[in-house]
Amino acid sequence: MSETFYITTPIYYVNDVPHIGHLYTTLAVDTIARYKRLRGIDTFFLTGTDEHGQKIAQAAAAKNLTPQELADQVVTRYIALWEKLGISNDDFIRTTEKRHIETVQAAFELLREKGDIYPGDYEGWYCTPCEAFWTETQLSEGNLCPDCGRPTVRMKEATYFFKMSKYQDRLLKHIEDNPNFIRPESRKNEITAFIKEGLKDLSVSRVTFSWGIPVKGDPKHVVYVWVDALINYLSALGYTENSPLFQKFWENCTHMVGKDILRFHSVYWPTLLMALDLSLPKQIFAHGWWTVEGQKMSKSLGNAIDPFYLTDKFGNDQVRYFMLREVTFGLDGDFSYKALIHRINGDLANDLGNLVNRTLGMVNRYKNGVIPAPNPLTGRENALYSEVERLGKEYISFMDETAFNKALASAWGIVGALNKYIDTEKPWDLAKNSPERLDTVLYTACDAIGILSRLITPFMPETALKLCGELGVPHIARFSSAEDLLAVKTLKPGALGDIAPLFPRLDPAEVMASIKSDPQKTAPKAVAPESLIGIEDFSKVRLIAGKIEAAEKAENSEKLLKLSINDGTGVRTVMAGIAKSFAPAELVGKTVVFVSNLKPAKLMGVLSHGMVLAASDGEKHSLLFLPDTVAAGTPIK
Ligand code: MSP
Repeated sequence: MSETFYITTPIYYVNDVPHIGHLYTTLAVDTIARYKRLRGIDTFFLTGTDEHGQKIAQAAAAKNLTPQELADQVVTRYIALWEKLGISNDDFIRTTEKRHIETVQAAFELLREKGDIYPGDYEGWYCTPCEAFWTETQLSEGNLCPDCGRPTVRMKEATYFFKMSKYQDRLLKHIEDNPNFIRPESRKNEITAFIKEGLKDLSVSRVTFSWGIPVKGDPKHVVYVWVDALINYLSALGYTENSPLFQKFWENCTHMVGKDILRFHSVYWPTLLMALDLSLPKQIFAHGWWTVEGQKMSKSLGNAIDPFYLTDKFGNDQVRYFMLREVTFGLDGDFSYKALIHRINGDLANDLGNLVNRTLGMVNRYKNGVIPAPNPLTGRENALYSEVERLGKEYISFMDETAFNKALASAWGIVGALNKYIDTEKPWDLAKNSPERLDTVLYTACDAIGILSRLITPFMPETALKLCGELGVPHIARFSSAEDLLAVKTLKPGALGDIAPLFPRLDPAEVMASIKSDPQKTAPKAVAPESLIGIEDFSKVRLIAGKIEAAEKAENSEKLLKLSINDGTGVRTVMAGIAKSFAPAELVGKTVVFVSNLKPAKLMGVLSHGMVLAASDGEKHSLLFLPDTVAAGTPIK
């Protein structure tokens, strides 16, 4: 059977707006998948969205949507992003799909029948943002989540438990026997230490909310969202029906995840797989975390870089190259526009772009746009070719270790060697006095650029395609082997295609100024398009200035004040829920903003004709006071 490879990204929380951190996992997986295909390996690449759980139910409620409506809206952002970037996933799975729900239910049932899932009561601490359980000893001071630092809640509820403890020793042994099971090494050590502290049985169902996959036969329980989400890797391949896809790919599975979710993938998941009698993934690789100019990326800091913005402004391939070249895969990295511009101008425009431009420019100038056939090679060409082969092999071995930046450095070693070859051979002199050598040098340089176009395919697919177009050769996304991929002297002499600079040089000052004044650079908050209103909707609301002439506490209410407000034409009664923040006397004589065309409504038996506006955090209110000079009845627009 031919070699196969199954690679997954974690599935993305559907209520998050994608930022460059999310992009990173998918770029990395896309790059490996393209690389494996390039080497002739049958590859299946999976990504998708994680749509259940309390967090999503809460986010949907805050937007007055059902969780499914929220998921349906937000998932389009991910799909659009992956399409924009030409991500080569073979499948996209949503955890709300029937095929997944059935797989989760089947796996849960199987483990229940086997006795590895059993009913009980859970008492402990739960972090809703992380959807994770913690024991007392694991919590940070103040009962905070040790992962994200946010408050946890004490939970006591009926739950099903998974006998994770039963698999502790087997998991430890597996990690020991398979040194590449968890990568990089430092992460493996962390996980080993965690397991050695002792694995407890895991609470795998919840009864306090319903947005999840119901347990068959006991539907008041929904499956714990991490167990639900992890099983996506099986659902997509057709585990329940033992489909041909499952038989072909499962054995050769690699998970690529961010370091924050390694524990779920390298402890919960393998033990669940052991219980299901399935083979474990070949590798779980944890990559590092991106910060932005030294700070953690977050919506509240407003620094989460929007991948749509970034790739529109700088180009898909430029961003792809930067993210995989700038940091050692596995370590944390810091994003800055300065560093991005530096890489684009240096590695891409100066080194690769210039090499291609001048080589193909000379083919145009001296050979009428036709790559010539070489004459007998000299020691100089042979030396160049052996350097290309050496660096090509180095590239392969780095790619096999998921060392993207080193693999790119090897490819750029070829760029450097070629630029040096051209500088030494001086085709511009050969054109005058040695036409035979000119043909050999131009052919050799074009042939080596052809090799480069293959090596950059996984990282910069659009550029690789363009490059092949310029060389006038078909682009090949799949070779039959690594040797084939690196084979030199395969370029057929012939006419070039259309040539255009691959990477325009950027003016750093100009680009930095344009970014500074651009409000779109950060990832937008997840506002569903349907919940936006047009100006015609807003103009239906009549806001006017009103003078409070009298105020008193409403009868039988701790919250309400009864206000008499002059609206410029007369005095009306308005009930306002601000009694905890204002004493009636301090309001008399004040001018406030109020909605004057609200349908009258009875509050504590009193008909209220309008609503005053106040900022509120749910507890405290601050009224919007206008200066005394604003006359009652003045419209506010
Ligand atoms: N839904 C879970 C995964 C379930 S897998 C069965 C989840 N989703 S996520 O949307 O929060 O994260 C998706 C991926 O993006 C993870 O690999 C995560 O590590 C990665 N990143 C999110 N922010 C990141 C950075 N700032 N930097 C690098 N990667 C980051 O976790």
